[in-house]
Amino acid sequence: MSQPHLRTVVVLAAGEGKRMKSALPKVLHPLLGRTLIGHVLSAAAPLAAERTVVVVGHRAEQVREHLAEVAPQATPVLQEQQLGTGHAVRIALEAVPEATGTLVVLNGDVPLLRAETVAALVDTHEGAGAAATVLAAEVPDPAGLGRIVRDDAGQLERIVEERDATPEQRGLREINAGIYAFDAARLREALGKLSSDNDQGEEYLTDVFELFVSAGEPVAVHVAGDHTETLGCNDRVELAGLRRLLRDRVNESWMRTGVTVLDPATTWIDVTVTVERDAVIDQNTQLQGTTVVGAGALVGPDVTLVDTAVGEGASVVRSHAVGAEIGPQASVGPYAYLRPESRLARKAKVGTFVETKKATIGEGSKVPHLSYVGDATIGAQSNIGAATVFVNYDGVRKHHTTIGNHARTGADNMFVAPVKVGDGAYTAAGSVIIADVPPGAMAVARGEQRNVEGWVLRKRPGTPAAEAARRAGENASDPAGAASEGD
Ligand code: UD1
Ligand code: MG
Repeated sequence: MSQPHLRTVVVLAAGEGKRMKSALPKVLHPLLGRTLIGHVLSAAAPLAAERTVVVVGHRAEQVREHLAEVAPQATPVLQEQQLGTGHAVRIALEAVPEATGTLVVLNGDVPLLRAETVAALVDTHEGAGAAATVLAAEVPDPAGLGRIVRDDAGQLERIVEERDATPEQRGLREINAGIYAFDAARLREALGKLSSDNDQGEEYLTDVFELFVSAGEPVAVHVAGDHTETLGCNDRVELAGLRRLLRDRVNESWMRTGVTVLDPATTWIDVTVTVERDAVIDQNTQLQGTTVVGAGALVGPDVTLVDTAVGEGASVVRSHAVGAEIGPQASVGPYAYLRPESRLARKAKVGTFVETKKATIGEGSKVPHLSYVGDATIGAQSNIGAATVFVNYDGVRKHHTTIGNHARTGADNMFVAPVKVGDGAYTAAGSVIIADVPPGAMAVARGEQRNVEGWVLRKRPGTPAAEAARRAGENASDPAGAASEGD
């Protein structure tokens, strides 16, 4: 008895992708937040298939490892030799002998495919009670692709590969996207009858359509409304083209939800990112991984955020952040580098030429200029002077520095960790702080200043400096003259 709602997904990913000229298997190339195969698996995910089989071959181990990470429910099945797409599906079916109902087959290199389109293909297929249904599209340039050959009544007759096509068939612009729905039981039977009598000497999955047609089994075609969804990836030029298309799609969808994207052509947002309403993304900005941008935040220009959370109303300008948390209304940059576990509380500021790592910066606290803050906790409403270094590394281990609330540390300080500066404490400019500073104290840790009077006139006579010093001496003894010099 057939169980029409049982579904199995098979993704074909055993090929090498020669034209990529890469050590990385083609399906593992990244594209705005997912690998090529990651995109395909996520388009198939809403089908909630009982089983997902991925046919692996070229560099199978690498593909398996990736699948374990992104799709642990998927079963990799090894196709030792790539003898064709029909052979690949045959091997996949051997791994799931119990599979009945609808079998969805997807090429692993069609990353722009939408989940809605896969669902619509399956609806067409199940609605028609077809033995096989192919996703087709009219494309401007069908070169290299299989063509959909229809009869006079518009019914699918066969799918023919370009290299096996007649000149007339080559003129067809309706192509096979490499995405199909099959009745599993009938496909199993038909695959047993495939020949490899074609230009490549391979078992073509596409040949089952002709077999079904001649056996009088119903086949169907589902035409994709947006042909870009069916684009495959064969080389790096195509990969870049897909990246641009996906960029535009992602940007457009965020703009439709109320995000301002000032320059969509230079804004690259991974499909895994979230951007809330009224955020403004300025030009040359990349938002990657699990990054979240809060409502009304301003990000850009020239910003890269990886796995970083930006709070509501925060601003991040010309900066790079990885694994950071930027609190609401906090301000970052221009020219800041936030490394993992940098945590800025509400209204905190990390300014220009500042690097942070494993650093918590409390509410309203500021590190405005030219500093390194590593392995540190800074309390609330404190100010760190310009050109400060949190000296966290003794050459062997990292140590922590703690600065309290409402502290004011001087410019050009070194905090030699482990060390603590108490609440409300001050430190003098140029200090090397090696011992704890109690709350409310002023720490001064620098040499006393000594002026050697007249040194330049004695040791550097005749220089412009000595001349200037001499004039200053004369003016000092003639207050009227000094006033007439101006500044
Ligand atoms: C295939 C279709 C073609 C369609 C095109 C869409 C066939 C015979 N042709 O052609 O009609 O227009 O896709 O992109 O199916 N693979 C395996 N094992 C193999 C062979 C291929 O896993 O033995 C995988 C590849 O890794 C790839 C997919 O199947 O992900 C398609 O294979 P590919 O060689 O790219 O087929 P095309 O020639 O592009
Ligand atoms: Mg291909």
